[in-house]
Amino acid sequence: MKVKYFDLENKVVFITGGGSGIGASIVEHFCEQGSKVFFVDINEEESNKVVEKCKKINFLYLFFIIVIY
Ligand SMILES: NC(=O)c1ccc[n+]([C@@H]2O[C@H](COP(=O)([O-])OP(=O)(O)OC[C@H]3O[C@@H](n4cnc5c(N)ncnc54)[C@H](O)[C@@H]3O)[C@@H](O)[C@H]2O)c1
Repeated sequence: MKVKYFDLENKVVFITGGGSGIGASIVEHFCEQGSKVFFVDINEEESNKVVEKCKKINFLYLFFIIVIY
């Protein structure tokens, strides 16, 4: 059973490089805690996969922005 940290619920979290690797894991874990998660990444394809995965966890507060450089 996963631990629920209620003090993370509804907190706003901003993650850079959330589209893969460590960043994606952080996105998923904060979504599980009910946080309002925003993340940026330059890789749209991988970021969309993270979004699809997180839709099953907590879709309400997940936002993602592609960085164009
Ligand atoms: N994986 C490890 O074991 C490990 C260990 C120590 C340190 N680190 C460091 O931690 C960081 C993340 O590691 P990782 O393994 O998750 O890497 P990763 O390459 O899987 O993740 C990096 C993410 O950042 C995104 N990104 C790259 N440039 C960006 C930009 N300008 N704006 C927005 N997003 C951008 C990439 O698209 C990618 O999704 C790296 O800096 C890495 O060097 C990783």
